[in-house]
Amino acid sequence: MEQTRSRQRGDQAPSRPPRRIIVGISGASGALYGVRALQMLDAAGIETHLVVTRSAHLTLAQELEMQPRDLKQWAGVVHNINDIGASIASGSFRTCGMIIAPCSIRSLSEIVSGVTSSLLTRAADVVLKERRRLVLMVRETPLHLGHLRTMTAAAEMGAVIMPPVPALYARPDSIESMVSHSVGRALDLFDVETDAVVRWEGLARRAPGPGAGDADDGPPSTS
Ligand SMILES: Cc1cc2nc3c(=O)[nH]c(=O)nc-3n(C[C@H](O)[C@H](O)[C@H](O)COP(=O)(O)O)c2cc1C
Repeated sequence: MEQTRSRQRGDQAPSRPPRRIIVGISGASGALYGVRALQMLDAAGIETHLVVTRSAHLTLAQELEMQPRDLKQWAGVVHNINDIGASIASGSFRTCGMIIAPCSIRSLSEIVSGVTSSLLTRAADVVLKERRRLVLMVRETPLHLGHLRTMTAAAEMGAVIMPPVPALYARPDSIESMVSHSVGRALDLFDVETDAVVRWEGLARRAPGPGAGDADDGPPSTS
């Protein structure tokens, strides 16, 4: 009713934010998570804004034999890590939010402290202050109490802490499918539909209990 009345008064309905997501790749192990996020968002027709830290140059090279320029083919806009005047450094530039995949402890800590020394952490800070979605695929192990407290603080500030933990129930048959599933679940948080997620529909068959030897019993299936 209220909407109808305001339209009759000639008011504009609030515009929907553009389907635009910031992708940050920091220097934790798992650069492939960031690359897959870019590829999947590109395939879904979402405009991406990519920012890569200097340490991530090392992990891209070490883990994937890639350079940041190789990512341009999937990114809408590539921002320089030092360009603190970039569009994504301002809250007036509307986005659906940001995913940092993978997220190092250093970047996590900068975001929580608010001492944002790069465009990646500044963009994350902006996403939080504008109450937009921030997904942090934090990767470190084992974790000391300081790491855990910093993650707690980030969650209290509104971020989603989503370590890249493999979903073995989906029975990945390769590193690629394991990573795609995790990234697909992260993109679920932005309501981006991908075909990478094996969605759980319940145990198709009863898993064998200890000592159960029935040849018909098999492991649970998700297919
Ligand atoms: C090959 C490699 C793997 C690394 N893995 C991790 C990791 O899993 N988690 C982490 O927090 N830091 C990791 N680091 C260390 C970070 O790169 C380092 O703390 C850096 O300062 C992070 O900066 P950034 O957040 O600006 O990318 C790794 C470094 C290298 C070279």
